[in-house]
Amino acid sequence: MKIEIHPLKKHELKPLYTNPNELGFCKLFTDRMFVMHYSEVDGWHNPAIKKLAPFQLEPSTIVLHYAQEIFEGLKAFRTKKGEINLFRPEMNAKRFNRSAARMCMPAIPEFDFLESIETLVRLEERWIPSTTGASLYIRPFMFAADTTLGVRASSTYTYCVILSPVGPYYAEGFNPISLYVSDEYTRAARGGTGEAKTGGNYAASLLAGRVAREKGCAQVLWLDGAEHRFVEEVGAMNIFFVFEDRLVTPALNGSILPGITRDSVLMLAREQGLKVEERPLPIDEVIGGITTGSVTEIFGAGTAASISPVGSLRYRDQDYVVGNRKVGPISKKMYDLLRGIQYGEIEDRHNWIRKVALDQHAAA
Ligand code: PLP
Ligand code: COI
Repeated sequence: MKIEIHPLKKHELKPLYTNPNELGFCKLFTDRMFVMHYSEVDGWHNPAIKKLAPFQLEPSTIVLHYAQEIFEGLKAFRTKKGEINLFRPEMNAKRFNRSAARMCMPAIPEFDFLESIETLVRLEERWIPSTTGASLYIRPFMFAADTTLGVRASSTYTYCVILSPVGPYYAEGFNPISLYVSDEYTRAARGGTGEAKTGGNYAASLLAGRVAREKGCAQVLWLDGAEHRFVEEVGAMNIFFVFEDRLVTPALNGSILPGITRDSVLMLAREQGLKVEERPLPIDEVIGGITTGSVTEIFGAGTAASISPVGSLRYRDQDYVVGNRKVGPISKKMYDLLRGIQYGEIEDRHNWIRKVALDQHAAA
């Protein structure tokens, strides 16, 4: 792919954040974005990195009406040696194309997807925080660009990558959060779009998310769409339960997002000698386990959220407290292992890290 890089003048560059410990999640964005376009005749064309700027869209652009859109989320980490690590970005490339297929959108060759990210991250290197715990969040996305109100797949698309320096996703940081178990609303159902990373899934989750916050919870723990009986996942992460010596997570069933962190945790847990179960998990079994004390830990796992301990579930107006609202040993172990690998402090035996080659002359 021949990426056209538009040079930015020094005065066009934004001032860098002053305190990397106060970044929060995606509050500011870097100077540049990657953009390319698709049409049926030309395929993907005109890849460019240019100054981050608003899009001009006709009011009839399909994405604004029928939500034909997909996205990904991954991070670049700066190691103590100053290297830049991406964590399993090939998995994001593959999932992006699975989401594209589900939403009738064109695939992007994996190599081009990776190149778009690596080239942009290299140019924007100064934005990658050097504090452990902070990182550069990478958001590739694609949207339908035809202008029509007919309900059909678009024939033109725009693909874009933007970057944001981030700290922890939750205000709680690495402290237990509370989750609200919704048995009223549904995020996704089998046969729907739950396992695709598409904006509509998140729009569908907003009302329940508001209810969760009104009840003092950070996010929703979703149950299955058919019976509201089986645990699925959380708004922005997959979910794990420690039942004594077993680590249990809902099996991928078509309506759960197949998380890359989830896959990594499963592998790390097995290597730690834990018994791991991926299976349908009834909410009654979880609530029963918390009540009798056999559920000792709950944690979420996702790119933005990293490993996020859960201190309580609110279900049918009752609070069920897990592990005295403290961070449990398995949650801590998974957090340490994952972060250790991401920040280059633990040997990468799985070949999960892809280093971004830094080019001294690339900036500005
Ligand atoms: N589930 C949902 C709904 C998500 O939005 C995310 C975040 O990407 C995840 C799970 C975790 O996926 P991953 O570990 O690939 O970030
Ligand atoms: C991610 O973890 O990358 C996500 O996409 C979650 C989110 C902020 C929607």
